[in-house]
Amino acid sequence: MTRVVTIDGPSGSGKGTIAALLAERLGWHCLDSGALYRLVGLIVDRAGIGFEKGNKIAELGRNMDVEFSPAGVMLEGEDVSIAIRTETAGNNASKVAAIPAVREALLQWQHDYAREPGLIADGRDMGSVVFPQAEVKIFLDASAEERAQRRYKQLKEKGLDVSLAGLVAEIEERDQRDRNRSVAPLKAPDGALVVDSTGLSIEEVLATVLEQVQCTFPDLEV
Ligand code: DC
Repeated sequence: MTRVVTIDGPSGSGKGTIAALLAERLGWHCLDSGALYRLVGLIVDRAGIGFEKGNKIAELGRNMDVEFSPAGVMLEGEDVSIAIRTETAGNNASKVAAIPAVREALLQWQHDYAREPGLIADGRDMGSVVFPQAEVKIFLDASAEERAQRRYKQLKEKGLDVSLAGLVAEIEERDQRDRNRSVAPLKAPDGALVVDSTGLSIEEVLATVLEQVQCTFPDLEV
């Protein structure tokens, strides 16, 4: 069975960064499951379909023509790497992610990523639902203020004009939806190592995660 390390946590906890660095360090595959929900959100938004049409949205998700290439995320041949990263796309993703049929439809996409030599899976329900058999489960958290500050810095660097208070409110609203939905709510899975990254550098968090990986797989050279 392919080795899997899951990294779950709320938006802005740094899990995407840590997952990518860890995958690079180990030479493993990396699944950014949030991108799949963002893609479905984008498709729904563009097609003008109401969020209540769960089965229709699930079908679109199951059959979407997507390719993750080093050049970017391609949807029907169009590079949508930037389009899926906007705040609107994030909010649409959070709405489609609350639909059980959509989560079910995206399962196969996610399972297909588990290939040798191993997979780092980043998301909200990687350790609890998608890869419950994973040998290493990490739950990365940080305070809403710290996560909003990180996002604020990123957006400012991109030259976007945003308000910090607005970002805190958006992050809290999205957390609320992700943590309280009836299907696969955001929470630390059983057996996960919970890492609170508030006040920690990327290097410090990566070192903690690497230690756990090394402990579980002593044969790996990390
Ligand atoms: O990690 P992200 O911000 O790109 O995720 C976008 C949205 O998708 C987020 O609001 C929650 C949802 N999501 C999810 O429900 N399950 C996942 N495994 C990944 C993301």
